[in-house]
Amino acid sequence: MAIRDIVLFPDSILTKKCRPVEEVDDSVRTLIDDMVETMYDAPGVGLAAPQVGIPRRLTVIDPTAGEEEDNLYVFVNPEIIEREGVIRWEEGCLSIPGVYEHVERSARVVVRALDRNGEPFELEATELLAVCIQHEIDHLDGVLFLDHLSRLKRRIVLKKYKKQLSKMAQQDDPNDGEPPD
Ligand code: NI
Repeated sequence: MAIRDIVLFPDSILTKKCRPVEEVDDSVRTLIDDMVETMYDAPGVGLAAPQVGIPRRLTVIDPTAGEEEDNLYVFVNPEIIEREGVIRWEEGCLSIPGVYEHVERSARVVVRALDRNGEPFELEATELLAVCIQHEIDHLDGVLFLDHLSRLKRRIVLKKYKKQLSKMAQQDDPNDGEPPD
């Protein structure tokens, strides 16, 4: 297993529609394991394949971010087949660090997907799990949670994010702010 680099917005891979996984083979299972490790390391509650640079329909979710056991979900080629109600939840995204905004989602969804062995399953979800499933499937369609905000709100949030991103880039630069030898 390996921790992979998380792609940050505004990388163009985050706005592309991903292709289905054709076969759940060992290379896909390795990707799943790496994504789980990367998600827990971050830590986050969900990670989609395009966020590690792989434009395939695959996502991992753990609403407890690994704090509790047996809360890990793997969805290959997920599809929402039922949805109802409305829920508002404050969302964030590992690809847009530091940004948290309320988004409206369906309150209950039923998702159909393949598991890590390529076996089909269906799952009913509410609350945070339902929010995560919708957020992550959005990633597979090149949609970010920011796209659910009003245009004005999105503009304000993006301005703040870009400022913060350039600050992060300065901190990453070892030559920046260091006194000369
Ligand atoms: Ni995200």
